[in-house]
Amino acid sequence: MKPGTTTTPDMKGLLKYLIASAAFFFIGTVHGVIQVIPSVRAWLDSIGSPYGGPGHMIDPLAHAHINVVGGVVLLCMAVTYYMFATISGRPIYSYRLVNHSFWWTTIGISCFYSSLLFFGILEGHYLLAHNSEAMEKIHHVYGPTIATVATVMGMGFWIFFANIFMTAKRYFSQRHDA
Ligand code: HEM
Repeated sequence: MKPGTTTTPDMKGLLKYLIASAAFFFIGTVHGVIQVIPSVRAWLDSIGSPYGGPGHMIDPLAHAHINVVGGVVLLCMAVTYYMFATISGRPIYSYRLVNHSFWWTTIGISCFYSSLLFFGILEGHYLLAHNSEAMEKIHHVYGPTIATVATVMGMGFWIFFANIFMTAKRYFSQRHDA
């Protein structure tokens, strides 16, 4: 690939990053508007947001992560892959890993966000119903669930880091040999 030429068929795979990033920003902005509606705000405050408890899961955790991981990080991943290949004039180490970092991050953030909303709403309901027993039972399921989906999301980051590091390693070793 000559320096400056960019759009190989493999690169088209980055388009899904841009679409997913826009979609997650859309969800995050709608979430942001809903959580300032006075009745919703009052409910979130009554279940502990933003300081702790179930409310904290919804605002700021779910809201922050759908925007920063779903919106910003996916965009940064695509930009890094595109810019590295364009500036170096060399392909990314593995386009299979480009797809893997996309799907692990996207499935991870979707499940992380849905879990925070689901457990936040359910535990909030039991908190307001003064049903601490049910709340505790649900919270016991929340722990392993959020740890699992957080790991899936983390895998997306770590595959991306590995792919970029291997691309850089190959680029600099080839430059060194040249
Ligand atoms: C695999 C990736 C990630 C995981 C598993 C993760 C997980 C978490 C968890 C569990 C918390 C809550 C800690 C608590 O109980 O207070 C948290 C807080 C936070 N995270 Fe992440 N995070 C990730 C990536 C990121 C990234 C990339 C950013 C920003 C670019 C970010 C921004 C934040 C912020 C701002 C908070 C604090 C929210 C608050 O309480 O005000 N996270 N994260």
